[in-house]
Amino acid sequence: MERKKGKKVTIIGAGNVGATVAYSLAMHGSCHEIMLRDRAPEIAKGKALDMSQAANAARQHTIVRVAEEAEDMKDSDVVVITAGSPRKPGMSRDDLLMINAQITKEVINDVKTYAPNSIVIMVSNPLDVMTYVALKESGFPKERVVGMAGILDSARMAHFIYEKIGYGAGQIRASVMGGHGDDMVPLPKFSTVAGVPLTDILSEDEIVEIVERTKHGGAEIVGYLKTGSAYYAPAKSTSIMVEAILKDTRQIHPCAVYLDGHYGYSDVVSGVPVALGANGVEKLFEMTLSEGQKRKFAKSVASVRRMINVLKENNFFTNPEDNIITE
Ligand code: NAI
Ligand code: 2OP
Repeated sequence: MERKKGKKVTIIGAGNVGATVAYSLAMHGSCHEIMLRDRAPEIAKGKALDMSQAANAARQHTIVRVAEEAEDMKDSDVVVITAGSPRKPGMSRDDLLMINAQITKEVINDVKTYAPNSIVIMVSNPLDVMTYVALKESGFPKERVVGMAGILDSARMAHFIYEKIGYGAGQIRASVMGGHGDDMVPLPKFSTVAGVPLTDILSEDEIVEIVERTKHGGAEIVGYLKTGSAYYAPAKSTSIMVEAILKDTRQIHPCAVYLDGHYGYSDVVSGVPVALGANGVEKLFEMTLSEGQKRKFAKSVASVRRMINVLKENNFFTNPEDNIITE
């Protein structure tokens, strides 16, 4: 029997985010093998070769290859999904929702077949809904399907805090929960600079400014790039999750996970603090929220649920029971 060689990560969607995740992991030597899978395999092949050479330059052992066939993802410990289509002119958010949900359904079916024991990290947008689709269509336990957004949104908030105060870089712990959309819930009361509460450092108006900028942090970058969206911070945030799982760090990160009665919600995905380790979500933390924070979280959950219900109304899910609207 062929012996499995070290840790293996497959990245489906080798575009800006996917390729940058691979590069970040390869530069750290975080795993033995990275497989890139994309519907444009030639481009993925070029990137894989380039990155394998960069790993050698960095004296790392990671090798990056292309998964030409779905079965090449066999034995993956972690599968990252960034495959998606960008929004095109004339396309509504719901049109894009259906297209990306269809892509997620197609690729998760391969994951289920060829990497049935992997932990899936979803990145494609709309993130919380795609995480829900990946969970339902894979049939994996809820601990093994996790969405990336909270680490990114918190990092954006931390950066905006640093820009505002001008000190404490690297010591800022910003906290954001909820869905990855305009209704995300930045939590200034749970944010600190070297342990000093943010609310003791900045005025209310300054905090409101940071909260609003965080909510639109992705759009701010799209405004500069014109075509495409952010990928360095999204990729770094994703690779932090991959490494937490591969190294079983059990460190706590805000991630998009299935809520099953947590915070009073069920059958929906939203961003909450979880400990990430070898089994995926090792523990979900329920924080005590103020009435205002609860209201904001409820709004965010409702907007994710609305999109999930659009899919259900269209009988999108393979299992008919998953098309039943619960709320
Ligand atoms: P991109 O367009 O550069 O890459 C997407 C890649 O997916 C392309 O290479 C495309 O060929 C590939 N693809 C499409 N359908 C596929 C299929 N069926 N099988 C295999 N590959 C397929 O986009 P980018 O910038 O890498 O973003 C990827 C996704 O991640 C988007 O949905 C984006 O909105 C989302 N995103 C989410 C973030 C988050 O915080 N969760 C942050 C940044 C991006
Ligand atoms: C972002 O926040 C587009 O979701 C992506 O940059």
